[in-house]
Amino acid sequence: MQEFKERTLITDPQKAFHYTDLQRLKPTRANDPYEYQAGWGNRHQSEVIPGTLPVAQNNPQEVRFGLYVEGITYSAFAAPRHANFSTYMYRARPAAAHNGYVPFHSKSNIQNCFLSVNPTVATLPEQAEWHPFPLPKDEDKIDFADGLHTLAGSGDPNIKEGLALYVYMINSSMDRRAFCNTDGDFLICAQLGNLDIVTEMGKIFLQPGEICVIQRGIRFSLNLAPDTQVARGYITEVWGSMWELPDLGPLGGHGLANPRDFLYPVAAIDDDLHADWLIVNKTNGQLCAIQQDHSPYDLVAWHGNVVPYKYDLTKFSSQNATSIDHTDPSIFTVLTAKSRDPNTALADFLWFGPRWDVATNTFRLPYFHRNSASEFLACLYGSGLGRSDEFLPGGGSFEGGHTPHGGFHEGYQHGMRLHESQPEKILTEQLTIMVETSRLFLFTEYARTGCGTISTHGTDYKVWDALPDRFSANPKARELLARVKQDRIAEKKRLAPYYIGGFSHGANASNTEGVHSEELKPYMNGTHEVKETKVIEAAPEAAPESTPQINGTHETKEAEVTPEVTMNGFKDAPTNGLTNGDVPTDDLTNGDGLTNGDVPTARLTNVDAIIVATAAIAAE
Ligand SMILES: [Fe+2]
Repeated sequence: MQEFKERTLITDPQKAFHYTDLQRLKPTRANDPYEYQAGWGNRHQSEVIPGTLPVAQNNPQEVRFGLYVEGITYSAFAAPRHANFSTYMYRARPAAAHNGYVPFHSKSNIQNCFLSVNPTVATLPEQAEWHPFPLPKDEDKIDFADGLHTLAGSGDPNIKEGLALYVYMINSSMDRRAFCNTDGDFLICAQLGNLDIVTEMGKIFLQPGEICVIQRGIRFSLNLAPDTQVARGYITEVWGSMWELPDLGPLGGHGLANPRDFLYPVAAIDDDLHADWLIVNKTNGQLCAIQQDHSPYDLVAWHGNVVPYKYDLTKFSSQNATSIDHTDPSIFTVLTAKSRDPNTALADFLWFGPRWDVATNTFRLPYFHRNSASEFLACLYGSGLGRSDEFLPGGGSFEGGHTPHGGFHEGYQHGMRLHESQPEKILTEQLTIMVETSRLFLFTEYARTGCGTISTHGTDYKVWDALPDRFSANPKARELLARVKQDRIAEKKRLAPYYIGGFSHGANASNTEGVHSEELKPYMNGTHEVKETKVIEAAPEAAPESTPQINGTHETKEAEVTPEVTMNGFKDAPTNGLTNGDVPTDDLTNGDGLTNGDVPTARLTNVDAIIVATAAIAAE
């Protein structure tokens, strides 16, 4: 009988292997003060006062309590059902009631024009790594409207095409200020500090390891939770697209980020509805503000499917290889945003958290790769992926499309030896995220210089010295390489007679007599001579007579023999000129190499041309 081992309760989410280690009876962590509604893709509804939502209609003549109906659309009115998004809000005062637009001077570094005509953005040709992005100084009061910095992007919100990466570093809540991004959808990923996010549809508590999506057009205030003095995190914004759950294909209906784990807020109303507020709008990358004398958080009820939501990354149901080899990292996709290319996502948001590694007879570490996607990696907490000592929580690393990368450390050397590998828990007590895009990231001045934490390149080039050329150093490999060359030449010679002649010589006629039937006849009727010919000479640096192979018992004989087909009239043909793969063209084309044969020169020229061409290919 198996030993019974009681499961220990984990209380720190950052030490948990999975959310279920916390043994919670609620879908939220212990410190989350809010209630939520669960379920991806629903049309949710919520009321502060039950009975507020109109029944069986959206626009009654009179809404309960004299509330105003305000609708927000996110898609075209007539978009198909699966892509049709809107929400009805029942609020104390409509957003249209305001006191005008005013300029807004922000300390943020926001850049949204990622077109090559913009001289302030540039690609990074090599890997890049950032130490943790700098937190605001204590004496500066930086809220979200002042602490948002664009790192990189591609495209432009004006044409609803592309994406942008940001970091936020704040030490202050938004004091009667709300933010409204009319350009795209923010996927917010908390890295440091707990956030108390107020949205028009209700409140969301967000902590490191959790993500939140706020759709374009929704007003929100990103505040510090009471226990947090300073906060940092990452934001990925998509333009002309939206964050969606990836399709699961043969995985079936469950796995990865499960729909029921996405949590939507319940309606909440501000205590003080009559105060001065500033709504900071981001439109086409520019900030301006709307002044109003009432709270934007005055909804008594709402229903719809344009609603901010959150997801706890420790709930991710990881899938991977259970026998051999690597599953592509797309298996870690939490959310994806489509591009206009049906075969390629605009952006994927990936999870690299704790999981079991069980693949057998497999090099388990990431193999060397030059993927077409560009990758931005960031560690939320813990020791990252063990990439380097420099890859710290709150920093980042970038690899552009087709940038060669992979590992180099001792683990790699060990992993490349035949051994029996045991199942093991990996990437524990850390959480790393990756934003992968099919686009070429252009980086802002803030990312390249302003933030002051970029390394000139991600990896010290010298580390690759740990990966020597073992192939060239292997004498057996050199010997086999020489043999392969000889075999290829012999093979081309053997096949050459099939191609003698040509259509002008009647090769396509029903009766090909008279052109090359005499040459081919012996071969076709099986009476051709087979002569053993020594074709393998020891290569100049070849191995000694006996070369131990992998198991050390195999003996290699010098002068291994390859049977060669020798045909009437061809037996001494171009062999001499070909044995070293270096064909003297002149000799062959004028028939010098063939003088022992009795084949008419005109026909030989065809053979020679083929052999010269094929031998040249073989010698490459
Ligand atoms: Fe990679």
